[in-house]
Amino acid sequence: MNELLERHRAVIPSWVGVYYDEPIEIVGGKGCRVTDRQGRSYLDFFGGILTNMLGYDIAEVRDAVERQLASGIYHTSTLYLIRGQVELAEKIARLSGIPDAKVFFTNSGTEANETALLLAAAARRSDQVLALRNSYHGRSFGAIAVTGNAGWKPSALSPFNVHYLHGTDRQLPAFAGMSDAEYTAAAVADLRHVLATATAGDVACFIAEPVQGVGGFTMPPDGLFGAYQEIFAERGILFISDEVQTGWGRTGEHFWGIGAHGVTPDMMTFAKGTGNGFAIGGVVARGDLMDGLRANGVSTFGGNPVSTAAANATLDYLLAHDLQARAAKLGALIIGGLREAAGALPAVGEVRGKGLMFAVDMVDPATGEPSPALATRLLAETRERGLLIGKGGLYGNALRMAPPLTLSDDEAREGLDILTDAMRAVNAAATGPGA
Ligand SMILES: Cc1ncc(COP(=O)(O)O)c(C=O)c1O
Repeated sequence: MNELLERHRAVIPSWVGVYYDEPIEIVGGKGCRVTDRQGRSYLDFFGGILTNMLGYDIAEVRDAVERQLASGIYHTSTLYLIRGQVELAEKIARLSGIPDAKVFFTNSGTEANETALLLAAAARRSDQVLALRNSYHGRSFGAIAVTGNAGWKPSALSPFNVHYLHGTDRQLPAFAGMSDAEYTAAAVADLRHVLATATAGDVACFIAEPVQGVGGFTMPPDGLFGAYQEIFAERGILFISDEVQTGWGRTGEHFWGIGAHGVTPDMMTFAKGTGNGFAIGGVVARGDLMDGLRANGVSTFGGNPVSTAAANATLDYLLAHDLQARAAKLGALIIGGLREAAGALPAVGEVRGKGLMFAVDMVDPATGEPSPALATRLLAETRERGLLIGKGGLYGNALRMAPPLTLSDDEAREGLDILTDAMRAVNAAATGPGA
């Protein structure tokens, strides 16, 4: 066995998974490509799980961080004014569209969601939370409690009283063959029923990902959350949009994933791509909600001078280069190409996505049932051809892809060609003689 893998297994928890029988150690990167320890180069279509949002070694981000390091100040604590933090908060508050918004910075998406849930619980004086089935919101007790996926839920202990809504489960027999409008109506009726039968009425909030990340890039029909919001508004239930994967124009059509639903949420959480790899997350919320906590709060490292320098440079770059438009254009190209290829391949099921966030499901060509084994095979086949992609979904059969938003037209076509070739190879092996 690979020596580093052996050492990894000895000291890193068994539940921190690595890809491939022979895992890759990435030691260098430039643009949308990375290099492994053996010197092999890969086009990266997963970007450190959507976190290297601009790609690798971006001069503007590196320069901003190096300027901060050269000042000698990596940390001051929030007892002192941090110029970069204030500037970043101003930027995010403006971009959020949330009225009178304030921003609290954390080190991760998990902490961001914890904060949002805390704000909602405090404002509503309730521990009742609505979440979506097949969701993922992080790995703390609170975030796990609102996660709707047993594969990512190591404990049932919960600080919240949680009920799960429909939204991304149209594959279930109960919803088979429904149109978007019919499914939305069924989900809304279920929400009313849950509120009447399973809650004490005073629900604090609803938390949801506009496109579910870990869930396999599954998403509700556009507008579903808008329909939910009408009911939430009647009852004062707060809306938290978890934009950890969908923020910053990733979905192409909107700057925030929630834009597809015509809703301005009360709070949004963000992390992953915000600092292009530097650890920063946060929550942007209506000022009255943010200021509603009655005790002191601090995050030692949240919004520190180095991570905010990286995030300011990342967001400035993203806006100056209109990377949302890039995501829309290249997403359409790749998703369209994948759909075309998948049509002739019985081992490839649904192709879905928005912008540069897309997935394909691998299925048993005979039964159409989810096939995690074929997904693992496709992961390996793409790697063999020099492309890194992700895997996930409730049934472990979704291949998830989210390249850096700086992807070039040529790289988009190169990735699409590799994917198509690899899908054909896996399909041939699954349907050919001896399959
Ligand atoms: C939608 C979503 N929310 C929250 C999180 C948790 O973020 P972190 O791993 O930074 O704690 C993730 C991480 O994958 C995520 O995808």
